[in-house]
Amino acid sequence: MNRIVLESPDGVPVAVPLSERVHWVGAFDPHLRTFDIILKTANGTSYNAYVVRGSEGVAVIDTVKEGFADVFFARLESVADYAEIKVIVLNHLEPDHTGALPELMRRAPGAQLYISQKAQSMLKGLLKQENLHFTPVVTGDTVSLGDRSLQFLHTPYLHWPDTQCTYLPEEAMLFSGDVFGCHFCDDRLFNDRAGDFRFSFEYYYAHIMRPFKEYVLRALELIEPLPLKLIAPTHGPILRDRPDRYIQRYRQLSSPALHSEISPQQKTLLIFYISSYGNTRRMAEAIYQGALQVDDVRVSLYDLEGGEVAPFVDLIEEADGLILGTPTINGDAVKPIWDLLSSLTVVNLKNKLGGVFGSYGWTGEGVRLVEDRLRGLKLRVPIPGLRVKLIPTDDEILECKAFGLELAQELMGLREAKMINFADLA
Ligand code: FEO
Repeated sequence: MNRIVLESPDGVPVAVPLSERVHWVGAFDPHLRTFDIILKTANGTSYNAYVVRGSEGVAVIDTVKEGFADVFFARLESVADYAEIKVIVLNHLEPDHTGALPELMRRAPGAQLYISQKAQSMLKGLLKQENLHFTPVVTGDTVSLGDRSLQFLHTPYLHWPDTQCTYLPEEAMLFSGDVFGCHFCDDRLFNDRAGDFRFSFEYYYAHIMRPFKEYVLRALELIEPLPLKLIAPTHGPILRDRPDRYIQRYRQLSSPALHSEISPQQKTLLIFYISSYGNTRRMAEAIYQGALQVDDVRVSLYDLEGGEVAPFVDLIEEADGLILGTPTINGDAVKPIWDLLSSLTVVNLKNKLGGVFGSYGWTGEGVRLVEDRLRGLKLRVPIPGLRVKLIPTDDEILECKAFGLELAQELMGLREAKMINFADLA
Protein backbone atom coordinates (compact mmCIF):
# COMPACT_ATOMS: atom_id res chain seq x y z
CA MET A 1 0.00 0.00 0.00
CA ASN A 2 1.47 3.36 -1.01
CA ARG A 3 2.29 5.69 1.84
CA ILE A 4 0.49 9.02 1.80
CA VAL A 5 3.07 11.76 1.43
CA LEU A 6 2.23 14.74 3.64
CA GLU A 7 5.59 16.53 3.55
CA SER A 8 8.44 17.12 1.14
CA PRO A 9 11.82 15.53 1.96
CA ASP A 10 12.84 18.77 3.67
CA GLY A 11 9.77 18.77 5.90
CA VAL A 12 7.50 21.25 4.11
CA PRO A 13 3.81 20.25 4.06
CA VAL A 14 2.58 19.26 0.60
CA ALA A 15 -0.85 18.70 -0.93
CA VAL A 16 -2.26 15.18 -1.15
CA PRO A 17 -3.86 14.16 -4.46
CA LEU A 18 -7.44 12.90 -4.50
CA SER A 19 -7.19 12.72 -8.29
CA GLU A 20 -4.95 14.33 -10.89
CA ARG A 21 -6.88 17.60 -10.61
CA VAL A 22 -8.07 17.62 -7.01
CA HIS A 23 -5.89 17.94 -3.90
CA TRP A 24 -6.35 18.01 -0.16
CA VAL A 25 -4.64 21.03 1.39
CA GLY A 26 -5.88 20.72 4.97
CA ALA A 27 -4.26 20.43 8.38
CA PHE A 28 -4.28 18.04 11.33
CA ASP A 29 -5.00 19.07 14.91
CA PRO A 30 -4.22 15.87 16.84
CA HIS A 31 -4.11 17.39 20.33
CA LEU A 32 -7.54 19.03 20.37
CA ARG A 33 -9.74 17.39 23.02
CA THR A 34 -12.73 19.71 23.13
CA PHE A 35 -14.30 21.33 20.09
CA ASP A 36 -16.78 24.21 20.32
CA ILE A 37 -16.99 23.76 24.13
CA ILE A 38 -19.40 20.80 23.89
CA LEU A 39 -17.77 18.20 21.64
CA LYS A 40 -15.15 15.74 22.78
CA THR A 41 -12.43 14.68 20.36
CA ALA A 42 -10.63 11.54 21.47
CA ASN A 43 -7.79 11.92 18.99
CA GLY A 44 -8.19 15.47 17.71
CA THR A 45 -9.61 16.56 14.38
CA SER A 46 -8.63 17.73 10.94
CA TYR A 47 -9.53 20.86 9.01
CA ASN A 48 -9.94 19.70 5.44
CA ALA A 49 -9.64 22.10 2.53
CA TYR A 50 -9.38 21.28 -1.15
CA VAL A 51 -8.02 22.59 -4.43
CA VAL A 52 -9.60 21.88 -7.82
CA ARG A 53 -7.67 22.63 -10.99
CA GLY A 54 -9.56 23.32 -14.21
CA SER A 55 -8.23 24.26 -17.64
CA GLU A 56 -9.16 27.89 -16.95
CA GLY A 57 -8.34 28.36 -13.33
CA VAL A 58 -8.03 26.97 -9.83
CA ALA A 59 -10.64 26.82 -7.08
CA VAL A 60 -9.97 26.59 -3.34
CA ILE A 61 -12.80 25.01 -1.40
CA ASP A 62 -12.85 26.01 2.29
CA THR A 63 -9.80 26.94 4.37
CA VAL A 64 -8.62 25.99 7.88
CA LYS A 65 -8.64 27.30 11.45
CA GLU A 66 -6.45 30.37 11.83
CA GLY A 67 -3.68 28.70 13.81
CA PHE A 68 -3.18 26.15 11.02
CA ALA A 69 -2.93 28.67 8.19
CA ASP A 70 0.80 28.19 7.62
CA VAL A 71 0.36 24.48 6.90
CA PHE A 72 -2.62 25.21 4.64
CA PHE A 73 -0.71 27.80 2.61
CA ALA A 74 2.33 25.54 2.29
CA ARG A 75 0.15 22.74 0.92
CA LEU A 76 -1.72 25.14 -1.35
CA GLU A 77 1.53 26.56 -2.74
CA SER A 78 2.72 23.03 -3.56
CA VAL A 79 -0.03 22.70 -6.20
CA ALA A 80 -1.05 26.22 -7.28
CA ASP A 81 0.16 29.77 -7.70
CA TYR A 82 -1.99 32.43 -6.07
CA ALA A 83 -2.44 34.15 -9.45
CA GLU A 84 -4.15 31.00 -10.77
CA ILE A 85 -6.83 31.02 -8.07
CA LYS A 86 -10.04 32.28 -9.67
CA VAL A 87 -12.54 30.87 -7.21
CA ILE A 88 -12.80 30.52 -3.44
CA VAL A 89 -15.80 28.51 -2.26
CA LEU A 90 -16.86 28.65 1.36
CA ASN A 91 -19.27 25.88 2.15
CA HIS A 92 -19.55 27.05 5.76
CA LEU A 93 -18.31 30.14 7.55
CA GLU A 94 -17.56 28.83 11.02
CA PRO A 95 -14.05 29.97 12.03
CA ASP A 96 -12.55 26.48 11.84
CA HIS A 97 -13.00 26.78 8.06
CA THR A 98 -12.55 30.48 7.50
CA GLY A 99 -9.60 31.25 9.79
CA ALA A 100 -7.21 31.46 6.84
CA LEU A 101 -9.68 33.25 4.56
CA PRO A 102 -8.57 36.88 5.08
CA GLU A 103 -4.97 35.97 4.31
CA LEU A 104 -6.01 33.84 1.33
CA MET A 105 -8.00 36.78 -0.06
CA ARG A 106 -4.97 39.00 0.39
CA ARG A 107 -2.68 36.54 -1.39
CA ALA A 108 -5.15 35.72 -4.19
CA PRO A 109 -6.79 39.09 -4.97
CA GLY A 110 -8.05 37.85 -8.34
CA ALA A 111 -10.28 35.20 -6.77
CA GLN A 112 -14.05 35.56 -6.52
CA LEU A 113 -15.78 34.32 -3.34
CA TYR A 114 -18.78 32.02 -3.65
CA ILE A 115 -21.00 31.59 -0.61
CA SER A 116 -24.59 30.60 0.12
CA GLN A 117 -27.32 33.22 0.24
CA LYS A 118 -27.58 32.83 4.00
CA ALA A 119 -23.84 33.29 4.49
CA GLN A 120 -23.82 36.91 3.33
CA SER A 121 -24.40 38.62 6.66
CA MET A 122 -22.06 36.16 8.38
CA LEU A 123 -19.28 36.93 5.92
CA LYS A 124 -19.68 40.65 6.56
CA GLY A 125 -19.61 40.00 10.30
CA LEU A 126 -16.55 37.83 9.96
CA LEU A 127 -14.41 40.03 7.72
CA LYS A 128 -15.64 43.48 8.78
CA GLN A 129 -14.48 44.93 5.47
CA GLU A 130 -15.95 47.71 3.34
CA ASN A 131 -16.62 46.96 -0.34
CA LEU A 132 -16.60 43.23 0.12
CA HIS A 133 -17.16 41.41 -3.18
CA PHE A 134 -18.71 37.97 -3.27
CA THR A 135 -21.26 35.96 -5.22
CA PRO A 136 -24.19 34.39 -3.33
CA VAL A 137 -25.28 31.11 -4.92
CA VAL A 138 -28.23 28.71 -4.72
CA THR A 139 -28.91 25.13 -5.79
CA GLY A 140 -28.29 24.78 -9.51
CA ASP A 141 -25.79 27.61 -9.79
CA THR A 142 -22.52 26.56 -11.41
CA VAL A 143 -19.09 28.12 -11.75
CA SER A 144 -16.85 26.99 -14.59
CA LEU A 145 -13.13 26.31 -14.34
CA GLY A 146 -12.96 25.31 -18.02
CA ASP A 147 -12.92 21.54 -18.14
CA ARG A 148 -14.01 21.32 -14.49
CA SER A 149 -17.05 22.92 -12.92
CA LEU A 150 -18.51 23.40 -9.48
CA GLN A 151 -22.21 23.01 -8.80
CA PHE A 152 -23.74 24.34 -5.60
CA LEU A 153 -26.31 22.60 -3.42
CA HIS A 154 -28.29 24.65 -0.93
CA THR A 155 -28.18 22.57 2.28
CA PRO A 156 -28.96 25.00 5.12
CA TYR A 157 -28.75 24.19 8.84
CA LEU A 158 -26.21 21.42 8.43
CA HIS A 159 -25.40 22.64 10.96
CA TRP A 160 -25.51 26.44 10.55
CA PRO A 161 -27.94 28.47 8.44
CA ASP A 162 -25.18 29.20 5.91
CA THR A 163 -24.10 25.66 5.06
CA GLN A 164 -23.94 24.44 1.48
CA CYS A 165 -22.28 21.60 -0.43
CA THR A 166 -20.33 21.82 -3.67
CA TYR A 167 -20.35 19.11 -6.34
CA LEU A 168 -17.65 18.49 -8.94
CA PRO A 169 -19.51 16.52 -11.63
CA GLU A 170 -16.51 15.75 -13.86
CA GLU A 171 -14.94 13.80 -10.97
CA ALA A 172 -18.14 12.74 -9.17
CA MET A 173 -16.85 14.34 -5.96
CA LEU A 174 -18.89 16.10 -3.30
CA PHE A 175 -17.31 18.72 -1.05
CA SER A 176 -19.75 18.42 1.78
CA GLY A 177 -18.59 20.85 4.46
CA ASP A 178 -19.34 19.53 7.95
CA VAL A 179 -21.88 17.05 6.54
CA PHE A 180 -20.58 13.45 6.69
CA GLY A 181 -17.62 14.72 8.71
CA CYS A 182 -16.33 13.77 12.14
CA HIS A 183 -13.72 14.87 14.63
CA PHE A 184 -11.18 12.17 13.99
CA CYS A 185 -7.55 12.93 13.29
CA ASP A 186 -5.75 10.35 11.18
CA ASP A 187 -2.98 11.19 8.75
CA ARG A 188 -3.84 8.15 6.67
CA LEU A 189 -6.52 10.56 5.46
CA PHE A 190 -8.87 8.20 3.60
CA ASN A 191 -11.66 6.08 5.08
CA ASP A 192 -10.25 2.85 3.68
CA ARG A 193 -6.95 3.50 5.47
CA ALA A 194 -7.82 5.37 8.65
CA GLY A 195 -8.48 3.68 11.97
CA ASP A 196 -11.98 2.80 13.14
CA PHE A 197 -13.82 6.12 13.20
CA ARG A 198 -17.40 4.82 13.33
CA PHE A 199 -17.97 6.03 16.91
CA SER A 200 -16.76 9.46 15.95
CA PHE A 201 -18.99 9.62 12.86
CA GLU A 202 -22.03 8.68 14.97
CA TYR A 203 -21.08 11.05 17.81
CA TYR A 204 -20.61 13.93 15.40
CA TYR A 205 -23.99 13.31 13.80
CA ALA A 206 -25.67 13.05 17.23
CA HIS A 207 -24.31 16.37 18.44
CA ILE A 208 -24.09 18.43 15.27
CA MET A 209 -26.71 17.23 12.80
CA ARG A 210 -29.37 15.57 14.95
CA PRO A 211 -31.23 18.76 15.88
CA PHE A 212 -31.67 19.42 12.15
CA LYS A 213 -32.96 16.06 10.93
CA GLU A 214 -35.60 17.54 8.66
CA TYR A 215 -32.91 19.61 6.95
CA VAL A 216 -30.69 16.52 6.66
CA LEU A 217 -33.50 14.72 4.84
CA ARG A 218 -33.98 17.69 2.50
CA ALA A 219 -30.25 17.77 1.78
CA LEU A 220 -30.23 14.04 1.05
CA GLU A 221 -32.88 14.61 -1.62
CA LEU A 222 -30.26 16.71 -3.42
CA ILE A 223 -27.28 14.47 -2.67
CA GLU A 224 -28.65 10.98 -3.23
CA PRO A 225 -29.25 11.33 -6.99
CA LEU A 226 -25.64 12.45 -7.62
CA PRO A 227 -23.13 9.98 -9.08
CA LEU A 228 -20.49 9.89 -6.34
CA LYS A 229 -17.00 8.44 -6.22
CA LEU A 230 -15.89 10.39 -3.19
CA ILE A 231 -17.18 12.62 -0.41
CA ALA A 232 -14.75 15.23 0.86
CA PRO A 233 -15.93 16.62 4.22
CA THR A 234 -14.23 19.38 6.20
CA HIS A 235 -13.41 17.16 9.18
CA GLY A 236 -12.20 13.59 9.47
CA PRO A 237 -11.47 10.96 6.84
CA ILE A 238 -12.16 11.54 3.16
CA LEU A 239 -14.82 9.02 2.14
CA ARG A 240 -13.67 7.36 -1.06
CA ASP A 241 -14.48 3.73 -0.25
CA ARG A 242 -18.22 3.20 -0.81
CA PRO A 243 -19.28 6.74 0.06
CA ASP A 244 -22.92 5.75 -0.41
CA ARG A 245 -22.77 3.96 2.99
CA TYR A 246 -22.42 7.27 4.79
CA ILE A 247 -25.31 8.77 2.90
CA GLN A 248 -27.47 5.78 3.80
CA ARG A 249 -26.44 6.09 7.43
CA TYR A 250 -27.47 9.75 7.48
CA ARG A 251 -30.85 8.77 6.06
CA GLN A 252 -31.27 6.06 8.69
CA LEU A 253 -30.30 8.36 11.53
CA SER A 254 -32.59 11.14 10.32
CA SER A 255 -35.69 9.05 9.61
CA PRO A 256 -38.28 8.76 12.40
CA ALA A 257 -38.42 5.24 13.85
CA LEU A 258 -41.70 5.71 15.71
CA HIS A 259 -43.79 5.93 12.54
CA SER A 260 -43.59 2.17 12.11
CA GLU A 261 -44.74 1.61 15.72
CA ILE A 262 -47.95 3.62 15.80
CA SER A 263 -50.84 4.11 13.41
CA PRO A 264 -50.95 7.37 11.45
CA GLN A 265 -53.81 8.89 13.48
CA GLN A 266 -52.12 8.23 16.83
CA LYS A 267 -50.14 10.79 18.80
CA THR A 268 -47.70 10.14 21.60
CA LEU A 269 -47.69 11.86 24.98
CA LEU A 270 -44.92 11.27 27.53
CA ILE A 271 -45.23 12.07 31.23
CA PHE A 272 -42.02 12.20 33.26
CA TYR A 273 -41.95 12.94 36.96
CA ILE A 274 -39.76 12.81 40.02
CA SER A 275 -41.23 12.71 43.49
CA SER A 276 -39.86 13.12 47.04
CA TYR A 277 -42.76 11.88 49.17
CA GLY A 278 -45.11 10.43 46.54
CA ASN A 279 -47.25 13.56 46.09
CA THR A 280 -45.96 14.53 42.65
CA ARG A 281 -46.19 10.83 41.76
CA ARG A 282 -49.89 10.79 42.72
CA MET A 283 -50.43 13.82 40.54
CA ALA A 284 -48.56 12.11 37.67
CA GLU A 285 -50.70 8.99 37.92
CA ALA A 286 -53.91 11.03 37.89
CA ILE A 287 -52.74 13.10 34.90
CA TYR A 288 -51.90 9.82 33.15
CA GLN A 289 -55.41 8.48 33.89
CA GLY A 290 -56.97 11.66 32.51
CA ALA A 291 -54.92 11.55 29.31
CA LEU A 292 -55.77 7.87 28.80
CA GLN A 293 -59.38 8.84 28.20
CA VAL A 294 -58.64 10.42 24.84
CA ASP A 295 -58.68 7.98 21.95
CA ASP A 296 -55.57 7.66 19.82
CA VAL A 297 -53.27 9.26 22.35
CA ARG A 298 -50.53 6.82 23.27
CA VAL A 299 -49.65 7.92 26.79
CA SER A 300 -46.55 6.75 28.69
CA LEU A 301 -45.67 7.44 32.31
CA TYR A 302 -42.07 7.37 33.54
CA ASP A 303 -40.38 8.01 36.88
CA LEU A 304 -37.11 9.81 36.13
CA GLU A 305 -35.58 8.12 39.17
CA GLY A 306 -35.79 4.80 37.36
CA GLY A 307 -34.17 5.60 34.02
CA GLU A 308 -31.19 7.02 32.19
CA VAL A 309 -31.50 10.35 30.43
CA ALA A 310 -30.21 9.31 26.97
CA PRO A 311 -33.02 6.84 26.11
CA PHE A 312 -35.57 9.33 27.42
CA VAL A 313 -34.16 11.96 25.06
CA ASP A 314 -34.67 9.51 22.17
CA LEU A 315 -38.31 9.05 23.21
CA ILE A 316 -38.93 12.77 23.60
CA GLU A 317 -37.45 13.54 20.19
CA GLU A 318 -40.20 11.59 18.45
CA ALA A 319 -43.06 12.31 20.86
CA ASP A 320 -45.82 14.80 20.15
CA GLY A 321 -46.23 15.96 23.74
CA LEU A 322 -44.19 16.14 26.94
CA ILE A 323 -45.50 16.65 30.48
CA LEU A 324 -43.03 17.09 33.34
CA GLY A 325 -43.69 16.75 37.04
CA THR A 326 -41.35 18.25 39.61
CA PRO A 327 -41.44 19.06 43.29
CA THR A 328 -40.01 22.40 44.38
CA ILE A 329 -36.98 22.26 46.65
CA ASN A 330 -35.33 25.46 47.84
CA GLY A 331 -37.26 27.53 45.32
CA ASP A 332 -36.29 25.48 42.28
CA ALA A 333 -37.25 22.43 40.25
CA VAL A 334 -35.08 19.44 41.07
CA LYS A 335 -31.84 18.37 39.40
CA PRO A 336 -33.12 15.29 37.49
CA ILE A 337 -35.62 17.54 35.69
CA TRP A 338 -32.94 20.08 34.78
CA ASP A 339 -30.61 17.27 33.69
CA LEU A 340 -33.28 15.99 31.34
CA LEU A 341 -34.02 19.47 29.99
CA SER A 342 -30.36 20.30 29.42
CA SER A 343 -30.01 17.07 27.43
CA LEU A 344 -32.76 18.11 25.04
CA THR A 345 -30.62 20.65 23.20
CA VAL A 346 -29.62 17.93 20.71
CA VAL A 347 -33.20 17.41 19.50
CA ASN A 348 -35.77 19.58 17.78
CA LEU A 349 -38.68 20.30 20.14
CA LYS A 350 -40.34 23.08 18.19
CA ASN A 351 -44.14 23.05 18.49
CA LYS A 352 -44.35 19.93 20.61
CA LEU A 353 -47.01 20.18 23.30
CA GLY A 354 -45.70 20.86 26.80
CA GLY A 355 -47.15 20.79 30.31
CA VAL A 356 -45.79 20.98 33.85
CA PHE A 357 -47.10 20.00 37.27
CA GLY A 358 -45.84 19.37 40.78
CA SER A 359 -46.45 19.24 44.49
CA TYR A 360 -44.72 21.75 46.75
CA GLY A 361 -44.35 22.57 50.40
CA TRP A 362 -43.65 26.31 50.65
CA THR A 363 -43.76 28.46 47.52
CA GLY A 364 -43.77 26.14 44.49
CA GLU A 365 -41.60 28.06 42.00
CA GLY A 366 -40.35 24.87 40.31
CA VAL A 367 -43.38 24.44 38.08
CA ARG A 368 -43.22 27.98 36.71
CA LEU A 369 -39.45 27.73 36.11
CA VAL A 370 -39.86 24.53 34.11
CA GLU A 371 -42.75 26.03 32.15
CA ASP A 372 -40.50 28.94 31.18
CA ARG A 373 -37.80 26.55 30.11
CA LEU A 374 -40.21 24.55 27.94
CA ARG A 375 -41.30 27.75 26.23
CA GLY A 376 -37.64 28.67 25.77
CA LEU A 377 -37.16 25.33 24.03
CA LYS A 378 -40.03 26.34 21.71
CA LEU A 379 -42.64 23.91 23.01
CA ARG A 380 -46.27 25.05 23.11
CA VAL A 381 -47.45 25.29 26.71
CA PRO A 382 -51.18 26.06 26.31
CA ILE A 383 -52.32 25.28 29.86
CA PRO A 384 -50.77 26.90 32.94
CA GLY A 385 -48.79 24.53 35.13
CA LEU A 386 -50.69 22.67 37.82
CA ARG A 387 -49.46 22.99 41.41
CA VAL A 388 -50.69 21.24 44.54
CA LYS A 389 -49.59 22.12 48.05
CA LEU A 390 -48.23 18.97 49.67
CA ILE A 391 -50.71 16.07 49.58
CA PRO A 392 -53.33 16.18 46.81
CA THR A 393 -56.93 16.03 48.02
CA ASP A 394 -59.58 14.05 46.14
CA ASP A 395 -60.67 17.26 44.39
CA GLU A 396 -57.09 18.05 43.46
CA ILE A 397 -56.69 14.55 42.05
CA LEU A 398 -59.72 15.30 39.87
CA GLU A 399 -58.03 18.53 38.78
CA CYS A 400 -54.99 16.48 37.81
CA LYS A 401 -57.13 14.12 35.76
CA ALA A 402 -58.73 17.12 34.04
CA PHE A 403 -55.27 18.55 33.36
CA GLY A 404 -54.19 15.30 31.68
CA LEU A 405 -57.44 15.07 29.76
CA GLU A 406 -57.18 18.64 28.50
CA LEU A 407 -53.59 18.27 27.40
CA ALA A 408 -54.42 15.03 25.57
CA GLN A 409 -57.40 16.74 23.92
CA GLU A 410 -55.17 19.65 22.94
CA LEU A 411 -52.78 17.18 21.39
CA MET A 412 -55.56 15.75 19.22
CA GLY A 413 -57.02 19.15 18.36
CA LEU A 414 -60.17 18.38 20.40
CA ARG A 415 -59.85 20.76 23.32
CA GLU A 416 -62.23 23.44 22.11
CA ALA A 417 -64.87 20.94 21.11
CA LYS A 418 -65.25 19.14 24.41
CA MET A 419 -66.46 20.24 27.82
CA ILE A 420 -65.00 18.35 30.76
CA ASN A 421 -67.50 16.61 32.95
CA PHE A 422 -65.78 16.16 36.31
CA ALA A 423 -68.20 13.38 37.19
CA ASP A 424 -66.64 11.28 34.39
CA LEU A 425 -63.22 11.66 35.97
CA ALA A 426 -64.10 10.60 39.50
FE1 FEO B 1 -16.49 22.53 11.20
FE2 FEO B 1 -19.33 23.93 11.74
O1 FEO B 1 -17.54 23.98 11.57
